[in-house]
Amino acid sequence: MKFTEALDFKKLVTYIPNKIEPVHNWYYFKEGFSKQLVDTFIQRFGLNSKSLVLEPFCGSGTTPLACKQHGIRSVGFEVSPFFAFVSKVKTRDYDLEKLKRDIDIAISWKFERPESIPNEKHIRKVFSKYTLQDAIFYKNKIMEIENNYSRDFLLLGLIDSAMKSSWTKKDGAVVKIQKKGKPPLKKFFKYKIKKMFKDLKRSNIKPVETQIILGDSRNLSLDNETVDAVITSPPYLNKIEYSKIYNIETSLFFDFPKSKVRSYIGSKVDEFGSEIGFSDFPLTAKAYFSDMNDAIKEMYRVCKDGSKLAVVIGGGCYPDRAIECDRITAELAEKVGFKVEEILVARNSWCTRARTIKVGQVRESIILLEK
Ligand SMILES: C[S@@+](CC[C@H](N)C(=O)[O-])C[C@H]1O[C@@H](n2cnc3c(N)ncnc32)[C@H](O)[C@@H]1O
Repeated sequence: MKFTEALDFKKLVTYIPNKIEPVHNWYYFKEGFSKQLVDTFIQRFGLNSKSLVLEPFCGSGTTPLACKQHGIRSVGFEVSPFFAFVSKVKTRDYDLEKLKRDIDIAISWKFERPESIPNEKHIRKVFSKYTLQDAIFYKNKIMEIENNYSRDFLLLGLIDSAMKSSWTKKDGAVVKIQKKGKPPLKKFFKYKIKKMFKDLKRSNIKPVETQIILGDSRNLSLDNETVDAVITSPPYLNKIEYSKIYNIETSLFFDFPKSKVRSYIGSKVDEFGSEIGFSDFPLTAKAYFSDMNDAIKEMYRVCKDGSKLAVVIGGGCYPDRAIECDRITAELAEKVGFKVEEILVARNSWCTRARTIKVGQVRESIILLEK
């Protein structure tokens, strides 16, 4: 297996470059990768308007949105209703006149104190009373909007603004609370929706078939051999539990059924490890690779012969060991039938225990595959 140091990708495998990318930056998703990473592989794989790109772990929709910006068809699968929502709002074709009318209405809303605000502890401790009143006032008004595209657009603007006015700071696997003065939500919200509209007007994105499906990558609702390329990053082993990190925005603004989307991609925990020689792995690692194996098999089924795949993946840290997720995933892909072209190593880091004791090195890499 060929490992190539590719430090040029160090920043591109993160969300950071998206902070200044119109539309991509509508919602801050720390676990996302950059538009430029997708641009790079669109070019390298020679994709064009006839291609269909799959993103089986869609997240905040970076791959489908970047494809759309290049006029390339794409389909994204995302198991979390919240992230599926974010991806849909970012990739829709809007009627700009209709949307502008609804934005103007939203900007003219005169604040009235809502009858009640949520009392749950996890919400109350991250917002001031006034921010929460603003958030609920705007949420209730947005829900009255008839056009569902406008409604979702404004709601995403509100969610991003509310989180920026909150005392939260997402820091790896935890949400920290930093009680310091924040500008009023009203101001953020009005600025945000105007800016989002400007992005749409300026971006000049042509309508192209872009599907975001609320679904599981281990069971893709696609026909065999229909996909030309995959550009994706599965959740990283043992890193974060998405439902916990994004619990504030989902519980404040939605009524989704409670579910867990852990850092391992499903909830099936079995003895998969022994089958492929990892019998001493922690149970969560076995479950992760078992689920990854199912997802890879599905990718193989839906990919055309000659299709190209870029899979961004990070190593897993446990108190007693570091796990090489790039190599193991590439081996699973090889067993399924893919050819492993190369593993580009974007970043090396140490796993530590008790903050200082080094237990092993992990890589963040891009696995390049071909069917
Ligand atoms: C690392 S993030 C992907 C980020 C994405 N590339 C972006 O730029 O926004 C992994 C995503 O996979 C989703 N996920 C986890 N398990 C899944 C599954 N079984 N099927 C589909 N999506 C899943 C998570 O909810 C998360 O949004």
